[in-house]
Amino acid sequence: MKTAEIRQKFLSFFESQGHTIVSSSSLVPHDDPTLLFTNAGMNQFKDVFLGFDKRPYSRAVTAQKCVRAGGKHNDLENVGYTARHHTFFEMMGNFSFGDYFKHDAIKFAWEFLTSPQYLNLPKEKLLATVYAEDDEAYDIWLNDIGLPAEKIIRIGDNKGAKYASDNFWTMGDTGPCGPCSEIFFDHGEEIWGGPPGSPEEDGDRFIEIWNNVFMQFNRDESGEMHLLPKPSVDTGMGLERITAVLQHVHSNYEIDLFVDLLKAAARETGVPYNQETPSLKVIADHIRACSFLIADGVLPSNEGRGYVLRRIIRRAVRHGYKLGQNKPFFHKLVADLANIMGDAYPELRERQDLITEQLRLEETRFAQTLETGMGLLEQALADNQKVLAGEVIFKLYDTYGFPYDLTADICREREIELDEEGFNREMEAQRARARSAKSFKANVQLEYEGADSAFKGYTDTTAQAKILALYRDNEAVDELHEGEEGIVVLDNTPFYAESGGQIGDTGVIAAVSGRFEVADTQKIKAAVFGQYGKVAAGSLKVGEDVTASIDSDIRAANMRNHSATHLMHAALREVLGEHVEQKGSLVTAERTRFDISHQQAITAEEIARVEAIVNQSILANVPVEAAHMSFDDAIAAGAMALFGEKYGDEVRVLKMGEFSTELCGGTHVSRTGDIGLFKIVSEQGIAAGVRRVEAVTGLNALAWAQEQEQLIKTVVAEVKAQTADDIVTKVQAAQSHAKQLEKALAEANSKLAAHAGAALLGEAQAVGAARVIVKQMDGVDGNALRDITTDLTGKGDDLVVLLASVADDKISLCAGVSKALSKTIKAGDLVKTVAEKVGGKGGGRPDLAQAGGTDIAALPAALNGVAAWVQSKQV
Ligand code: ALA
Repeated sequence: MKTAEIRQKFLSFFESQGHTIVSSSSLVPHDDPTLLFTNAGMNQFKDVFLGFDKRPYSRAVTAQKCVRAGGKHNDLENVGYTARHHTFFEMMGNFSFGDYFKHDAIKFAWEFLTSPQYLNLPKEKLLATVYAEDDEAYDIWLNDIGLPAEKIIRIGDNKGAKYASDNFWTMGDTGPCGPCSEIFFDHGEEIWGGPPGSPEEDGDRFIEIWNNVFMQFNRDESGEMHLLPKPSVDTGMGLERITAVLQHVHSNYEIDLFVDLLKAAARETGVPYNQETPSLKVIADHIRACSFLIADGVLPSNEGRGYVLRRIIRRAVRHGYKLGQNKPFFHKLVADLANIMGDAYPELRERQDLITEQLRLEETRFAQTLETGMGLLEQALADNQKVLAGEVIFKLYDTYGFPYDLTADICREREIELDEEGFNREMEAQRARARSAKSFKANVQLEYEGADSAFKGYTDTTAQAKILALYRDNEAVDELHEGEEGIVVLDNTPFYAESGGQIGDTGVIAAVSGRFEVADTQKIKAAVFGQYGKVAAGSLKVGEDVTASIDSDIRAANMRNHSATHLMHAALREVLGEHVEQKGSLVTAERTRFDISHQQAITAEEIARVEAIVNQSILANVPVEAAHMSFDDAIAAGAMALFGEKYGDEVRVLKMGEFSTELCGGTHVSRTGDIGLFKIVSEQGIAAGVRRVEAVTGLNALAWAQEQEQLIKTVVAEVKAQTADDIVTKVQAAQSHAKQLEKALAEANSKLAAHAGAALLGEAQAVGAARVIVKQMDGVDGNALRDITTDLTGKGDDLVVLLASVADDKISLCAGVSKALSKTIKAGDLVKTVAEKVGGKGGGRPDLAQAGGTDIAALPAALNGVAAWVQSKQV
């Protein structure tokens, strides 16, 4: 039975049992920033298990794309060396959301595995495990299914803590979990290994093919277990494993799907096909993970998911290199994969070009350093040492792009240990360097124990407040005097402290006794705002009442740019794709600067589309609404959260109509129409895979348009056009005129050269059989010297020419020899000899050569020596 058929049978069987077929969710868990990649079929149903989400069905069946590389379940390092580990695999699963429980779950599994209509596995080859305390599951196996007692194995907490067990499944550190019952297949006595729970369980004889998880608890961050609203079922059957069983092979890499991929890998690396070659297995495995990840919007980068993808690609490329393939090859396997799996996963065909191109780019990028890096590594390993030094691992990482686990992979092949501690030390030193390069503000830790500052600035531009603390030179003081710089902390403040990319507010703090001008606002603790600035008049005292007012024009401009950033973010994702992630942002009154993950330059046409979408949203003039809610509710409401960012339990959700929903603490306009015109003014690459887009809004957009207009007016005047429309014709005409002039000039120069040449011919001096012309012609440029020289040497068979010219303190030299003579007297040698005497170098063909020099004083003597040199060549 082929892999595709088994996948289909599973879906149909459960459909016939009242399950709804649900498509695989993306490998990027859109609703769960705590999870690196989708690692099990149940991920997309997490909230349904928890009771937060309802579906129109209570039974579901899926074939789910999973990646286990990085995160809690990480198999990357084992891939290639074992029969069953993969980075990417397919998990078949059936689910009950408060519908059936243990009894039916076990019954369905048994029926599908053993019924002749479905997989028809011999019953006597199957055995089951249950969680030690789970008598209910035990009884079902024994009495309802009729499995002999010796084939039902109880497994307790064998991993060192309560519920830490092979038979207690958890998705991650938190989330739905429960005891499970696994089904094993016995590959037979001839294979080494023992049943689960025995000391030989790691052998290949007894292989887990099915996991029934009885979802009962939700584990919270403190590790406490809470009962789920309704007991549910989550199951998983690794498609590759079950296929191996049905195809009577012992390794997943021997099933039909992998044989085809291994053959493709062998073809592209130019080695004979062999199922046992670990590097081929690595490549065949990795092309699946990489292609599916890119199809789901992950792009190679230096952090988060993108970095895991990069590690997998580089590992594959290195294994290709190991097989002797040092040209980009990996991307060529995408077409094979699309053929093999494209029917079940159409996204592979839809995004085939994108995937191929991304892999090709990454391969090419890495190929440039792979060879040098390998050279460095070989050198470091040359003297047979058993441990690779941390500095070398770090250098490979930092300079040659070798992820740590790639170096580990190579060392493992040679049984060399890695100095992990040394590597970590180097990494920490680098981080410290980066930290100290950051602005001083972030580094200063002010001592403050007082109350928090209540932020009033979402609605107000002014607040009545009391001074809670004052600082001078980062030390707490009671008073700040005229002219002194310092920091003011207030109990109420309309000043927004820089965060989420939006810069801090500026403005004034006015007291009866004095006036403080605020140049910036920064958080000095989570909810304590520091107003930075200078006392412009009088003095300020702790405890005093003040009126704090922000500069509302600047703030309004900040808000326009911040709100526009959200719209632009959504529009960029719409135009460029879901892979676009925010990599950084800076919102000031002048403009918004937004960095995103995207590999290629954004085209003019794409920019125009983004601008159109954003401006349409502005014209829709929808209200901008902020709501506080729990993080989970926010995500359920479709808010964009940044992967890897820490959010509190309660978050602020900023919504602009249906178009944009983001978690954001910033200040925003009240309606999108307040933004005014939005215009992107620049786009550039700032790092591999990161583009920076800058845009302006409101009056700044007007100013930008006016500047452009002024620029055009200036050009109109300069090229003497009537209107802006005429500029292009005028500029084209001016260019073609300039070309004509250049041509005429070149002709005039060559005539001049011919003339000068003719005159010089008369000055030729006979040296042996040659006529020698030596001349200094100051102010003539190198090209003209060459023209004159060729002209002269063409006038006879016996000419040796050396011309020099001094301009701008530099000497140009040109030597020429008639063809017939250039076997014995070489222009290249001549010019070199002269150049050496004037502090220069040069060379060229035997008949024509050029050089430069700087020692002008030495030039006359050098020129005088030419005749003697020519003489010396003729004896
Ligand atoms: N979620 C369970 C597993 O991954 C079925 O094994």
